[in-house]
Amino acid sequence: MGLVTVIPVGGLPEITAGADLAGLIAEAATGLADGDIVVITSKIVSKAEGRVARAGRQDAIDAETVRVVARRGHTRIAETRHGLVLAAAGVDASNTPPGTVVLLPEDPDGSARRLRKALRDRLGVRLGVLVTDTLGRPWRTGQTDAAIGAAGVAPVRDYRGTADTFGTPLEVTVAAVADEIAAAADLVKGKSAGIPVAVVRGLADLVTEADGPGARALIRAAADDMFRFGSADVLAARRTVRDFTAEPVDPAAVTRAVAAAITAPAPHHSTPWRFVVLESPQAQAALLDDMLAAWIADLRGDGFAEDQIARRVRRGEPLRRAPLLIVPCLHAEAAHRYPDDRRNAAEREMFVVAMGAAVQNLLVALAVEGLGSCWVSSTMFCRPVVTEALGLPDGWEPMGAVGVGHPAAPAPDRPPRDPAAFVITR
Ligand SMILES: Cc1cc2nc3c(=O)[nH]c(=O)nc-3n(C[C@H](O)[C@H](O)[C@H](O)COP(=O)(O)O)c2cc1C
Repeated sequence: MGLVTVIPVGGLPEITAGADLAGLIAEAATGLADGDIVVITSKIVSKAEGRVARAGRQDAIDAETVRVVARRGHTRIAETRHGLVLAAAGVDASNTPPGTVVLLPEDPDGSARRLRKALRDRLGVRLGVLVTDTLGRPWRTGQTDAAIGAAGVAPVRDYRGTADTFGTPLEVTVAAVADEIAAAADLVKGKSAGIPVAVVRGLADLVTEADGPGARALIRAAADDMFRFGSADVLAARRTVRDFTAEPVDPAAVTRAVAAAITAPAPHHSTPWRFVVLESPQAQAALLDDMLAAWIADLRGDGFAEDQIARRVRRGEPLRRAPLLIVPCLHAEAAHRYPDDRRNAAEREMFVVAMGAAVQNLLVALAVEGLGSCWVSSTMFCRPVVTEALGLPDGWEPMGAVGVGHPAAPAPDRPPRDPAAFVITR
């Protein structure tokens, strides 16, 4: 690898809808040659494509957002339809007439491909094209430019399987070269200087004949993303899952979820939560069979006919479909005892709600691990049977059961709930 040069392209006019961007760049960037990479700020691509909305900024952000990842005050970090996660869903009110906002290009990889072709048709040179936007980064101060669209540029350089200078094989290194080029180009572009295009020369090995996979290849798949959920959507990530794949559950993930569960609030500085983890199919079947017998006995006691009972218990039982079960138990030994029922009942409720807080923590932590869960009530309706089947220590009260596994399908969308309907203010 040799010298890399980054050349600002000045002299472009203010870009408006319908502008021939390739023509303007071809004129302004003299001496474009095979192997050069033309790096274009997405804002002028958006303007040329008419992606300027006469709308309030907040309304435009709403329209561009598919998922709010984090929020503080008016600041929203949101995922767009493209899968990009960025402030204000990429909606920008700077460098555009008052009352208008610039949206990201509809399909930045498509924009890059069209511009590449137009430049090639006009100049007869094989270029790479990147469309860039400025992104903030979690954990790091300041923004850098990144590639949101690419054509004819390998978006990554994969070093996995090669060796470092000591001969140690590299296992994870995939250099996001398209982002690195975007950031380098920003060093000479600059928003206030009004230079929205730069040419990066000296990286011809990254310029490909085909348009290639585009910048979409830089978007990490949700399943591989350890930071999938932000502070604004982590709670919504928990949904009741009643169908699971056969894939086993990693016991270490369950341990981490229990560790999260036991950070819940509880009365009197107590720690009243206990968990029985049923990993073995035999233990699971023994518990569920005993509970089924108890349920049938209850239904007979209610006076149901045998065929009605058979129909009832045949209904899908999510716990039977889960590869792992957790029985949360309440151990309320720290509860205070009062001479009257009123206060004893209140005391009991305090501990029950603390159990609810712990189970919610457990379920959210499982969701963060990519695991689905279903908290069902059944063990609460036959506690002696469960105590016997699980050999529970004294004072452990089963508080339902949680089926855990890899979801067979994503939970169906649920319309957002309006907090106003749940609140009265005094
Ligand atoms: C204490 C408790 C008991 C529940 N019992 C059952 C149950 O017996 N069977 C079931 O399918 N779901 C059960 N659920 C799950 C609810 O049906 C579920 O939370 C509700 O439909 C809302 O869906 P969501 O969890 O996806 O938000 C129970 C939930 C709680 C908190």
